[in-house]
Order: sequence, then structure tokens, then C-alpha cells
Amino acid sequence: MTRLHVNIDHVATIRQQRDTRYPEPVTAAGIAELAGADGITVHLREDRRHITDRDVRLLRKVVQTTLNLEMAATEDITEVAVDVKPDIITLVPERREERTTEGGLDVAAAADAIKRTAEKARGAGIRVSLFVAPDPAVIEAAAKLGVADTVELHTGAYCDADDEDLRRSQLLALKIAAKRAEEVGFRVAAGHGLHYGNVGAVAALPAVEELNIGHAIIARAVLVGLDVAVREMIARIRAARP
Ligand code: PXP
Repeated sequence: MTRLHVNIDHVATIRQQRDTRYPEPVTAAGIAELAGADGITVHLREDRRHITDRDVRLLRKVVQTTLNLEMAATEDITEVAVDVKPDIITLVPERREERTTEGGLDVAAAADAIKRTAEKARGAGIRVSLFVAPDPAVIEAAAKLGVADTVELHTGAYCDADDEDLRRSQLLALKIAAKRAEEVGFRVAAGHGLHYGNVGAVAALPAVEELNIGHAIIARAVLVGLDVAVREMIARIRAARP
């Protein structure tokens, strides 16, 4: 069964917008877990624009499922990760001017930083995932590094495809990449841009074990509540692989 990790960054985005004490990401994590989420994901960005160090530390104490910390492979965030000890870290490229993570890791160019961070994390008992484009060459480069047990495939190009042919070819790229990743021994996750309408085709890919979904769930939660929003997403994911 494909697992759902709910990314709660945008609960913190709403809070940071006004510097209030609400809404509380920790409460959101609890509601998501009670609704059936298999894990909670947060991105501690270098500019702390939404999730803060305080959130990550509290989440580590209360999350009962799996805590996945998305982060750049920098020294200062690595220090936080090694101290807080999430269950898994997902290394992502990060640029200050981007609105959200725009591409996958350039595994070859960032090899040294990835290795440094991953080795420190593994030494602290933390699993490592790499966020990569659905490209077999990148997956092979990731396997060569030998420091991660999971790859998360970037679904952005599939989600952004605005005609059916392109959507189909991007889905095929995800399918091929997921199969290749599984063959070289990775656990396979996927995410970015997935919503209630497009999640089914990705959830149906046999090699994909886990989905990381944030914006669509939090956006729906504003209208129907987080419990219902999470349950509806789980229902879509389950329906894709009866
Ligand atoms: N996976 C990764 C690695 C991400 O960086 C993000 C965005 O924070 C997501 C998944 C979730 O993307 P979305 O908010 O579009 O569902």
C-alpha cells in the first residue's frame, strides 16, 4: 500500500504571514496522523520562511509516525538535523528566490555536500533520501554515491504538463525512473505538485511506496478541514491500487 506523508509547511506559512502563534503545525501533525497519514514532512529552509527550528524540535517529540525533514545539504541545517534526529532526511536543492523547491538535486555537482551531510546523518541513525528528477542517469549517479536508501522522484514536470501527450510522457518518465531506482536498490518515494486530480496515476506506479504531498492537502483543509482533506487524499491513493 502506498504510504502518504503529509507536508505541513503551509500551516506554518499561514502563521508566519502574520507572526501569530496560530495555526500550530504540531496540532496539524496530530490531526493528519489521526486521519491516517503515515508520516509528517516538513522543510526547514535556510531562510526559515515557514517551518522553524522550534517546530522541528516539537514535532520530533510528538510525531508518532515517521518524521521526514526536507533540507538543503548545508552545514548549519545538518547540525540541526543531527541534533533533532528525524527518522529520515530528504536532501533537496534550495534557492532563496524560489517559491518552492523547483528542481531535483544535481547529484554529480553537489556530490561532496550530499556525502558530507548524508554521512553525518547516517552516523546519527537517520535515514537519507535524495530528491531527484525522474532521470535514470541521475538515479544511477545517486546509487553511485552510496549514501541514501531512498530516492524521492520529482513529480513537478508531470504535474505541470498542460496537455495530455506531455502528461503521458512525463508519467512514463516517472514509471521508468521508479523502476530503475527500485532495480538499483532504492526505496522509491515521489512528490511535488500532486493534487486530488493527478495523484492517482502516480500512486498506481508499482515501484512507488510513498508520496509526499503538502500544498494541495493544506489548501483543501482551509475549506473542508484537515481531517477530511487527509482522508480524501488517502482514499484517492488507495483507489489507484485496488
Ligand atoms: N517533496 C519535496 C522534496 C518537496 O520539496 C515538496 C515541497 O516542499 C513536496 C514534496 C511537496 O510538494 P507540494 O507542496 O507541491 O505537495
